[in-house]
Amino acid sequence: MRKGIMRPGHVQIRVLDLAEAVSHYSELLGLIEVGRDAQGRVYLKGWTEVDKFSVVLRQADTAGMDFMGFKVLNNAVLEQLEGELIAYGCEVEHIPADELFGCGRRIRFQAPTGHYFELYADKQKTGKWGISNINPEAWPRNLKGMKATRFDHCLLYGPNIEQTHMLFRDVLGFELAEQVVDPENQKVGIFMTVGMKSHDVAFIDCPEPNKFHHASFFLDSWEAVLRAGDLISMTDTPIDIGPTRHGLTHGQTIYFFDPSGNRNEVFCGGDYHYPDHQPVIWKVEDLGKAIFYHDRVLNERFLTVLT
Ligand code: FE2
Repeated sequence: MRKGIMRPGHVQIRVLDLAEAVSHYSELLGLIEVGRDAQGRVYLKGWTEVDKFSVVLRQADTAGMDFMGFKVLNNAVLEQLEGELIAYGCEVEHIPADELFGCGRRIRFQAPTGHYFELYADKQKTGKWGISNINPEAWPRNLKGMKATRFDHCLLYGPNIEQTHMLFRDVLGFELAEQVVDPENQKVGIFMTVGMKSHDVAFIDCPEPNKFHHASFFLDSWEAVLRAGDLISMTDTPIDIGPTRHGLTHGQTIYFFDPSGNRNEVFCGGDYHYPDHQPVIWKVEDLGKAIFYHDRVLNERFLTVLT
C-alpha cells in the first residue's frame, strides 16, 4: 500500500576529482549545474525536474554513493513514516533544513543492504529549467550533451535482499514491480516502485554492503540513447555496455562510467506498473537475458565493477 512517497528526489555521489566530474555530468549527460555550497559540493538537475536539484557531487577519496533521497507528499507523511521506521527498528538520523542547498529537513536511515536513504517533504521549487510553466515550449534550445531529462533511479548492490524488500514494502509503501529469483524462489534482485515506473530503486544481492552499481537518467527516445552512444565515443568515455535493451523492465539503455569509475545509465522506455500488477519474475539462471536482452550473456564488469 502506498504511503505518500512520491519519487526519487536526489542522490549524492562521491567523486575523486570534482572539476572532471562536473564536466562529465554537465557537458556529457547534459545536467544543469544549479549551485555550489560552502562544503564545495556541486548541485545539478535534469532540465524537466521542478525542484532545485537532484544530483549532488561531493569530492572524496573513494567513489560511490553517500545516500539516495525520496521526496514525500508533505510533512504529515514525513512524520508518519519517521514513526513507522522507528517502530520497525530503524535508527533515524535527523538532518536539519538547508544542510543540502534549498532542501527541507531530512530523515536518514540505513537499509539492510547497508545503503543510506533519506526522506524529505520540502525542496525549493525552481521549475523546469529553460522553459516557462505557462505555455511551455517543448524543450530548451541550449541543452548540452545527452540532454538527460531527469534523475530516474539507482541500482544498488548489497546483502539482505529479502529484509530490504520487507522494509521498502511494509514501512515505505513501495511495490515490487519485477524480481529475480533463484531456484529456491529466494529473491536475488528486486525492482521497487512508488508510482507507475518499473523501478524507482532496485537492489541486487551481493555479499558486500553499500555498493553502488549505477545512477540512471531518463532520455526521450531510443534515438536519444543511440546518440548518447555516439557522444560516449566522441568523448572517449569508458563504456560498460550498449546500446541494448534490458529484459528486466524492458528499458532501452546504455551504460558508461564517470571519471571516478561510478557507473551511469541513460535509458528510455520501460514497462509501466499499477498496484494490481503481479510482480514480473525473471529466473536467475536466465540473468544474462534479464540484464542484456539482446546479447543474452552478462559481461563480467556488470556484476563486479561497483563503487
Ligand atoms: Fe538502471
